[in-house]
Amino acid sequence: MLRTAFKTAAIRNVVAKRTISSTPAALSDKLFVHRDTSDNNANVKFEFNAENLKRAEEIMAKYPPQYKKGAIMPLLDLGQRQLGWTSLPVMNAVAKMVEVPPMRVYEVATFYTMYNREPVGKYFLQLCTTTPCQLCGSTEILKTIEKDLGIKVGETTKDGKFTLVEVECAGACVNAPVLAVNDDYYEDLTSETTIKVLQSLKAGKPIKAGPQSGRLTCEPKGGLTSLTSEPTGPGFMIRPDL
Ligand code: FES
Repeated sequence: MLRTAFKTAAIRNVVAKRTISSTPAALSDKLFVHRDTSDNNANVKFEFNAENLKRAEEIMAKYPPQYKKGAIMPLLDLGQRQLGWTSLPVMNAVAKMVEVPPMRVYEVATFYTMYNREPVGKYFLQLCTTTPCQLCGSTEILKTIEKDLGIKVGETTKDGKFTLVEVECAGACVNAPVLAVNDDYYEDLTSETTIKVLQSLKAGKPIKAGPQSGRLTCEPKGGLTSLTSEPTGPGFMIRPDL
C-alpha cells in the first residue's frame, strides 16, 4: 500500500517536472518545393543546343532503351551546364527526353544538392565545413569569404559573380580546408590564399586550382616519412642458395 502510494507520488513528480520542448527547426539554404517565378515556370522554353543535343544522345546511348531513365542525372547536369542552373523547364526537357513523368525527374533534382534549382553566380563557391575541414580552419575561411565578398552563406553578390554555399565533405579531407569553385578544388587554404583565389576570380584570371600550400597533390606536409630509401632490387633478403 505504502509502496503504491510512493510510486504514484514519484510518477506525479516526474509528470509535474516535464517541460515542453521542441527540436530546433531544420534550416537549409535550399527550398525543396518549387515556386513559379518569371524565369522559372513551365511556360519558359528550354531546349538543348545542337552541341549538347549530340552529347545527350551519346549519354542516352549508354542505356538500354527500356532504361532510358538511367540517364536522368547526367542529362540534368548537362542542362545545368548549358543554362547555368536547373530550372523547371530543364527538368521538363529531361523528362521528355527519357520519356518519364516529369515528377520522376523532379524527385531526382530535389534530392541531390548538386542541382541548383535557382540561378547561381558565375563562380559557384562551395566551402566544405565538415569536421576535418573545420579542424583545419574552414570557419576562418568562411569568415574571410563572407567579409571579402560582402555576402552570407546562400547569397549571391550583387554583380552576379559569386554565390557562396556551405557543403558537407567534399571528399578531399587530406587537403583540408577545401573550397570548390565550379568544377575546381582549391585546397590547403589559409585566409591569405583564399583572398588570393578570390582576387584572381574577380580579375577573371583564376589561379591554378589544387593545393595552395605548394605541396604536390596530397603528399605529406612534412615531407616523406616512409619509402625514403632506394628501392631494393629483385632477390632482396632471399637465401643465396635459392
Ligand atoms: S571534410 Fe572537407 S573535404 Fe572532407
